[in-house]
Amino acid sequence: MIKTEIRAEDVEENAPVSFELEEGGGVIITRVEGDLIAFSAKCPHAGGDFREGEIHRGRAFCPVHQWKFDLKSGRCIGDENYRIKKYGVNIVDGLIVID
Ligand code: FES
Repeated sequence: MIKTEIRAEDVEENAPVSFELEEGGGVIITRVEGDLIAFSAKCPHAGGDFREGEIHRGRAFCPVHQWKFDLKSGRCIGDENYRIKKYGVNIVDGLIVID
């Protein structure tokens, strides 16, 4: 489990907040239809960085080849063989904890 310094109440709908894992690699946290979602910033296609892309209507857009990923299911729209890496999200003392 990784305790972040991000307050759950500060994460807004389709607005990304990100942090870096100690072992390297970014994690993005956002909210879709009220649910908190945490996922790897690294695109499963060819490693694009979602932090340089956009999130719109519950979808993450990769900046490299513009593929779209549904943040609730994690699936790539157009090729279900590709999925973003998602993390479990919990809230402890108002702060987001992922695992
Ligand atoms: S690297 Fe993300 S769509 Fe190709």
